[in-house]
Amino acid sequence: MIRLSNIEKRFGDVTVLKGVTLTVAEGRVTALIGPSGGGKSTLLRCINLLEVPTSGSVRIGEEELTFHPGSKPNWPDVRRLRSQTGMVFQNFQLFPHRTAVENVMEGLVTVQKWPFGKAQERAMTLLQKVGMAHKADAWPATLSGGQQQRVAIARALAPFPRVLLCDEPTSALDPELSDEVVDVLGKLAEEGTTMVMATHDLRLASKIAHEVVFLESGQVVENGASRDLFSRPTRERTKRFIATLTQQGQH
Ligand SMILES: Nc1ncnc2c1ncn2[C@@H]1O[C@H](COP(=O)(O)OP(=O)(O)OP(=O)(O)O)[C@@H](O)[C@H]1O
Ligand SMILES: [Mg+2]
Repeated sequence: MIRLSNIEKRFGDVTVLKGVTLTVAEGRVTALIGPSGGGKSTLLRCINLLEVPTSGSVRIGEEELTFHPGSKPNWPDVRRLRSQTGMVFQNFQLFPHRTAVENVMEGLVTVQKWPFGKAQERAMTLLQKVGMAHKADAWPATLSGGQQQRVAIARALAPFPRVLLCDEPTSALDPELSDEVVDVLGKLAEEGTTMVMATHDLRLASKIAHEVVFLESGQVVENGASRDLFSRPTRERTKRFIATLTQQGQH
């Protein structure tokens, strides 16, 4: 289980997250939606502590950290919590001078100190899962965006994270390439991978998310089961936002 309690994040004088509380059950997929600047990426980055929350607490499984304004958490605690997460970025962020399989192995070998052979075996299993085993020795620059993102997903999954965090995983991709990434994420969701993803892609959210959280101006406006929230949002603001997404999807 992942539990964010009353997360506040300030950058200087600006409060970007204003007390966000959220629970994600094991094996469930939560989509974060909402207008640009609403705090989706910041919230994801607060889960893996790429950003340190100003206050509030983050719990992933048995690990929990509480934050206080002006005090820094200690690094081993941050590392322990972060190691429970895997992150997928909009722009893939593969290492350009490593092949696909080396990208997937990198963290296992350098951070987790796995033996080379075992890391390679794990990497190949994951490349297989995302349909990229045939490109194991390819350089990222020779892969399409959809292929790069699938390698990035394999890399994020390599150390057995408890939760996969995805920040706009399809938004840098053409519709066709986006489909192959949606398929892979859908398969992972069916297998029970716990995921939290920020997305503007209504198809992605409605296809694989169990829960949807609508975030605006650093606050949760509405959340609920995706089938309810997309078809019968209760808040006027959510209705308008979903209507805009639906129109965009038709172009
Ligand atoms: N490092 C930072 N320093 C200062 N302000 C920041 C920083 N990171 C984010 N912000 C601000 O926090 C707010 C929320 O940004 P965030 O990127 O989380 O929004 P978002 O919902 O992911 O938007 P988008 O849909 O465009 O990706 C924005 O006003 C942004 O300018
Ligand atoms: Mg964002």
